[in-house]
Amino acid sequence: DIPNNSCIVIFGASGDLTHRKLIPALYHLFANQGLPESFAILGVSRTHFTDQEFRDKLLGILRETETVDENTLSAFANHLYYQGLNTSDVEQYAQLKARLDLLQDHHQTEGNTLFYLATPPSLYGVIPECLAAHGLNTEENGWKRLVVEKPFGYDLASAEALDAKIHQHFNEQQIYRIDHYLGKETVQNLLVFRFANGMFEPLWNRNFIDYIEITAAESLGVEERGGYYDGAGAVRDMLQNHLLQVLAMVSMEPPSAINANSMRDEVYKVLRSLKPLSEHDLKRNLVLGQYTESQVRGQNLPAYRAEHGVADDSRVETYVGLKMEVNNWRWNGVPFYVRTGKRLPTRVTEVVIHFKKTPHPVFGADAPENKLVIRIQPDEGILMSFGLKKPGAGFTAEQVSMDFHYKELSETTMLSAYERLLLDAMNGDATLFARSDAVHACWDFVQPILDFKERPQSLYGYAAGTWGPIEAEQMLARSERQWRYPCKNLTDTEY
Ligand code: BG6
Repeated sequence: DIPNNSCIVIFGASGDLTHRKLIPALYHLFANQGLPESFAILGVSRTHFTDQEFRDKLLGILRETETVDENTLSAFANHLYYQGLNTSDVEQYAQLKARLDLLQDHHQTEGNTLFYLATPPSLYGVIPECLAAHGLNTEENGWKRLVVEKPFGYDLASAEALDAKIHQHFNEQQIYRIDHYLGKETVQNLLVFRFANGMFEPLWNRNFIDYIEITAAESLGVEERGGYYDGAGAVRDMLQNHLLQVLAMVSMEPPSAINANSMRDEVYKVLRSLKPLSEHDLKRNLVLGQYTESQVRGQNLPAYRAEHGVADDSRVETYVGLKMEVNNWRWNGVPFYVRTGKRLPTRVTEVVIHFKKTPHPVFGADAPENKLVIRIQPDEGILMSFGLKKPGAGFTAEQVSMDFHYKELSETTMLSAYERLLLDAMNGDATLFARSDAVHACWDFVQPILDFKERPQSLYGYAAGTWGPIEAEQMLARSERQWRYPCKNLTDTEY
């Protein structure tokens, strides 16, 4: 749907997220006629720019990073404005309000405003308070919505405190907590795949599934974000949000309808059913790792501790591997192995469903594996492996596979995660945004890991370019299972 005329106010307009994700997403929506007939984008941050300087800067970035059409670009530029503002100074919001009134007249936005908080998290509580002091939270004159980026809190207590603070001025229906994984087409496809296909849904439970893997591997290190990452680590950066949301999509019960309440009720329910991690789990079923220096085909990959912005003696994890369980009727006894890490051999996010073997191996001990690989990125698609008869004499089963790649659908244009989520927020559809109860449930689940991280000897090393600490492999091997490795370690000599 094309949203109503509105104004998008981006706090943190000179930051990385605005440049890399938000403005490109808005440009592509505009270029594909996805934005309303009339709209304004107002960048807000401390630095002083004129509208023209702001436009020039953003256009320069778009030309460098995207494929652009010059006519479309200059039409897009007419919607960009800038307001310099010290975001913690409540007085200065009077200027913001005055500016919004002008833009409302100029673009007929009827007061509809989306406030996007792309600032450092320390401002997430302050900005709503300052907006409210100038009446910019009330919906008497057009809707007012608040989009909040991750990280939403630093732990359970701070997430609850942040919610309490924002809820003083904005109600839950006005708040859109972004988890960009939910904006990914293939994450949403998990629901369609599960609930639109009568042939899979009956198998989706403890009776037929042996174990499930969820992997989000990245080949890059921490790049320019060492300063932020060293205060966060993989558990806060990826597990608490993206991976638990993917796990919820894989394991939740069917919602009665696809709308914000029904969906998020089911997500919350399954997240509440996660088996709390015991002391035994922390010692046996959790592997935290940090990448160390290594050589990949003659090239030196630096250790995490040598990255810019990272402490020399940092004990922050860049890898986490974890065995989890969902304590409910459907999943009792089925392990979910979840892992994520930086500087792994490749960039891939996938879910692997391993089905149980047949009860009696009539075709020999090497029974073929039945598994479904749901590839979230890149090369989005689904691969199904099973056994067939090996042609020739006798009865030997061999492993074969069938696969589907989204890119083979020639007509498909996939919206990027940010395009989809911005559009949904402008349309008032919160289905793909995290509700506060779910965010709290995720923090509650990871809290024992956050405490465990503080203990000495909780961290293993792994050479950059490998699949993480060997202990993560051993964790599965203990129950005769193994991770799927989409490619080899880059440090292997035969590579
Ligand atoms: C972000 C994390 O939320 O997600 C980054 O802060 C990570 O550290 C990124 O690299 C991964 O997102 P994607 O879409 O590239 O898988």
